[in-house]
Amino acid sequence: MNSIYLDNAATSHPKPDSVYLAVQEALRTGGSPGRGSHYQAIAAEHLIFATREALAKLFNVESSDRFVFTSNATTAINQALFGLLLPGDRVVTTTIEHNAVVRPLRELQNRGVEVVKVAADPATGIVTKSALQDACLCKTTRLLLVNHCSNVIGSIQPLTGLGRWCKEHDVLFMLDGAQSAGSIPIDLKALEVDLFAAPGHKGLLGPQGTGFLYVNEGIELTPLLYGGTGANSHSDVQPEFLPERLESGTFNLPGLAGLYAALQFLQQTGIEQIRARETELIEKILSGLRNIETVKLYGPDDAMLRAGAISFNLMKYDPSEVGFLLDQQEKISVRVGLHCAPDAHRTIGTYPHGTIRVSPGYFTTETEIDCFLLAIQRFAENKLKSL
Ligand SMILES: Cc1ncc(COP(=O)(O)O)c(C=O)c1O
Repeated sequence: MNSIYLDNAATSHPKPDSVYLAVQEALRTGGSPGRGSHYQAIAAEHLIFATREALAKLFNVESSDRFVFTSNATTAINQALFGLLLPGDRVVTTTIEHNAVVRPLRELQNRGVEVVKVAADPATGIVTKSALQDACLCKTTRLLLVNHCSNVIGSIQPLTGLGRWCKEHDVLFMLDGAQSAGSIPIDLKALEVDLFAAPGHKGLLGPQGTGFLYVNEGIELTPLLYGGTGANSHSDVQPEFLPERLESGTFNLPGLAGLYAALQFLQQTGIEQIRARETELIEKILSGLRNIETVKLYGPDDAMLRAGAISFNLMKYDPSEVGFLLDQQEKISVRVGLHCAPDAHRTIGTYPHGTIRVSPGYFTTETEIDCFLLAIQRFAENKLKSL
C-alpha cells in the first residue's frame, strides 16, 4: 500500500475513524429503512432521516425532504438532467465540466436538447458571470449548469448573484458540487441554487456508494428509476412526493451510516476550519511547485480561488510516467491524465496527455507534502532511478 495519498479529488482518504465504525455498526445491526416496522427497520429509518437533516443543516436548506440519496454524484446529475430536460429545451454550461455532465448532455443533445458551452478562461478556469448570463438570454433556456469547483485545476466559480439572476430570467440554476461539497462553505439558500448534485465520498468524507441530489421546492423531475420505496405499497404508481419519488430500491444503509458519521465530524470540525486547513496545504504545494524550475502549473495563482485539485506538468515527462514513478518508487498516490474531464483539459491546453493532479485532504500532513515536493524536485533533476 502507498504511504502518501494525494488523490482526494477522486475520493477522500482516510475517512474519520467514526465513519469506519458507523459502517461496521450498520452492517452488524441490519435493517432496511422503510421496509418493516421492527426494531432494525425503524432504527435504519431514523438514521436515514438524521442524515438528510444533517445535509439540510450543512447546506442551509429548510426541508430535508428535498435531499434525494443516490449512489454517487453521477447518478444525481443524470437524475437531474434526464428528469428535467425535454427536446427543444436549451441548457447552458461551461467548457470546464466533468464527463459526469458532458456525457449525459451529449446524449440529451442527440435527443433534441440544445447544449451551449461557455468558454472558461484557459489560465484560471473561471467563467465570467456576464458570459454565462449572455449565453442564457434565449427564451428556450431551461437550465444553467456549472461545475462549482474544477476537478482538474481547482478553480472555484464566482457564483454570487447568479442564482437570483436565473430566477429573474426563468432559468433553473444547477451546480455540480462534486469538488466543493464539504471542502468550502456552501449556502444553497443564499446562492439560490435549484439543483445541487454531490457525492458523499469526496469532501464530505463519507464512504463510496453515497451521493445526493438537492431539488428545490417547486421543481418536478421525472424519475430515472421506478420501484419499491417503502411508502404507498398498495399502489402500482410511483409516489408523487419527495424524496420517495426519486428513491426507488433498497438504500445503501452502511454507506449512509458512514456518511452520517462524516457529516457529524464536519459539523464538529466546522467547514471553515476544513477550508482553512486545505488552503494552507494548497498554498504549500503551490509555492513548493513554483520553486521547481521545470514545473508548469495550471489554474489560479491565488489559493483562495481554488479548492483542492492542483494540476501541473514536468517538462520532458509525460504525466503518466511521473504518476507511475511516484507510485512505484515513492509510494505516493496522485492521479495523472485527463481526470474524466477532456473538455477541461482542452480548455487549459493540456489535451490529450493531461496533467499530474495532486489533491490533498483535511488529514494530509505537512510532512507528506514535503515528501511529495522532494520527489518532484528529484524527478525534475533526473535523479529518480530509471525503471
Ligand atoms: C466535478 C465532478 N463532477 C462529477 C463527478 C462524479 O462524481 P462520482 O464519481 O461520485 O459520480 C466528479 C468525480 O470526480 C467530479 O470531479
